[in-house]
Amino acid sequence: MDLIGRDLICTQDWSIEELIRVIELAEDMQKHRYSNKYTSLLRFKTFLMFFYNPSVRTRQSFEAAATELGGHAQFLEPKSMRLKTEKSTGETIEDAANVMSRYAVGLGIRILEDKISAYGDGDKLIREYAKYCTIPVINMADDKYHPCQGLADVMGLRKHLGKNLKGKKLLQIWGNGALARSWCSVQESLIINSRFGMDITLAYPDGYELDPEVIEMTKYNCAKNNAKFEIVHNVKEGYNGADVVYSRNWMSPDAYDSGKFNKAKEIEKAMQYTNWICDEEKMRLTNNALFIHPMPVDRGNEVTDDVASGKRSIIYDIAENRLHIQKSVMALTMANLIKS
Ligand code: CP
Repeated sequence: MDLIGRDLICTQDWSIEELIRVIELAEDMQKHRYSNKYTSLLRFKTFLMFFYNPSVRTRQSFEAAATELGGHAQFLEPKSMRLKTEKSTGETIEDAANVMSRYAVGLGIRILEDKISAYGDGDKLIREYAKYCTIPVINMADDKYHPCQGLADVMGLRKHLGKNLKGKKLLQIWGNGALARSWCSVQESLIINSRFGMDITLAYPDGYELDPEVIEMTKYNCAKNNAKFEIVHNVKEGYNGADVVYSRNWMSPDAYDSGKFNKAKEIEKAMQYTNWICDEEKMRLTNNALFIHPMPVDRGNEVTDDVASGKRSIIYDIAENRLHIQKSVMALTMANLIKS
């Protein structure tokens, strides 16, 4: 399997064998974190990171990943560059992508929320860079997908539930929240966990429908694995028998209107559903479920402190996994050394 030069924009674009290869290498990298076999894979090499939006985990874990592979990650804010946008003249994506490809071995991009005008624009921009870059382009979270987060989630579930996730039930549930979250982590979770054979229950109040294309992909993945898929609109029903609960806010399909991001309106709307919080009472309905979340957690809205900091919460393990997964992705797509 040779993954050199591959872009990672959505996990659905990769085969299940390729995703398992990434996770297994990440598991070994976690076990042998500073082993000589890994510490020089990106020696003298640079990974460029383009952050339109803020980040804690993604920036820190990519920087640490490049360091641990012997290379360097360069942080770039598009606002400090002269790039062409919808509203201003400047350097085109074609020119920027070609030039960056001469300096670095990989390019990561994050773009979502207030930095786009309509759903899908962020993903489109990343794919446009990928079209012109001659180096791998990694999606560091756009408005549709968050592949590194999804891979980190699966790595965490394999550690705590065993490598075979088939037949385990994931409750993906909307959480009330004050942050107007983008859809990427949730949609990524649906497509990757269904890929690994989990039964999926998606729960949300009416009016919070997800991208129909993502729902179709999830149904397709479930059908291929003989796994179950259901959508419920009741706040408690989905908890019954769940092995994993993932409570996270996401915006309604009305979040963008005529090119405008209606953040305040989204928050006001979401805050009406105060009972859509993951708490201990609801968790008692589950099969002693693990609690997962990509973080940052909106404690007191999406989930109570008792659950987020409880014995079944694996949020910090998953946050750590971002580092190992990204090291693995970088090694496999950029280092030109690991082949199997
Ligand atoms: N989960 C995640 O991507 O976190 P950040 O937004 O802090 O990078």
